[in-house]
Amino acid sequence: MKVVSTAVEIQALARGYRDTGLTIGLVPTMGWFHQGHLALMKEAGNRADKVIVSLFVNPIQFGPDEDLDNYPHDLERDCKLAEEVGVDLLYAPNKEFMYPDGFSTTVHIAGLTSGLCGGDRPGHFDGVTTVVSKLFNQTLPHVAVFGEKDFQQLAVIRQLVRDLDFPIEIIGHPIVREKSGLAMSSRNSYLKKDEMNAALSLSKAIACAKRAAGEKQDISVQEIRKIVTDVILAHPECGIDYIEVVDKTTLQNCEVVNSDSMLVLAVKINKRIRLLDNSIIQGN
Ligand code: PAJ
Repeated sequence: MKVVSTAVEIQALARGYRDTGLTIGLVPTMGWFHQGHLALMKEAGNRADKVIVSLFVNPIQFGPDEDLDNYPHDLERDCKLAEEVGVDLLYAPNKEFMYPDGFSTTVHIAGLTSGLCGGDRPGHFDGVTTVVSKLFNQTLPHVAVFGEKDFQQLAVIRQLVRDLDFPIEIIGHPIVREKSGLAMSSRNSYLKKDEMNAALSLSKAIACAKRAAGEKQDISVQEIRKIVTDVILAHPECGIDYIEVVDKTTLQNCEVVNSDSMLVLAVKINKRIRLLDNSIIQGN
């Protein structure tokens, strides 16, 4: 596996692949790899001849009081893990290369970015769509793989590709979970032992809501939200950022629960660790 750090290098290598008829799969990441990231890399390998993984903790998608300075990182560890799953190129640019003095472009998507995580984290999705646009132009992928754990992010990226005509196929990968049910996340490394039960309440609450929906076909949105809220707030460490039932494509709030309804949650553990989880409500 080759590790490169500049846009000029990665673009030249990507062009070289394309010139010889090879397809490229990209997995954008912020590092501190876990099995969720590695599953995305394997999926990219199934879909393309060459896999490029970008590793960049993107400062412009973090708010002023967020965890940018503490975000876990260990390039050597991540290189080893990526190499083990067959990644061809790891692209780890530094901040000065990505955002040199004078950088002044923002890619903004209206509508989809205003609620849920966009409501709680103003400017976050502008940071994501700006960096992902740059990464697409730098790595020239045919396909790019994103996780369904960040469900709104995936919807926003699909919109970005449609609106700006990026000739890239976007693949969504299901959430990879710990045996306990906890959705894997780089931020799980912040959890202390005594915060684990609170963290597990997200996947437990989803399971309760799905069970209730299985037992009562005409369950209402209010009933689903109450079930989930009760399970989560049974843990005093938990603060709810949002619990919503939304349409899986438009992300608009659902009035009734149907097969397109997604339950989406964002919960803060002890005001420090923001965890996300989601699931469709009816079905698997
Ligand atoms: P990061 O949080 O590192 O996640 C990189 C990719 O891994 C995202 O597509 C995310 O949805 C996916 N992912 C994380 N945990 C997962 C899990 N448990 N199961 C499946 N997929 C999972 O998301 C970002 O970085 C950034 O916003 C980025 C897109 C790189 C832009 O900076």
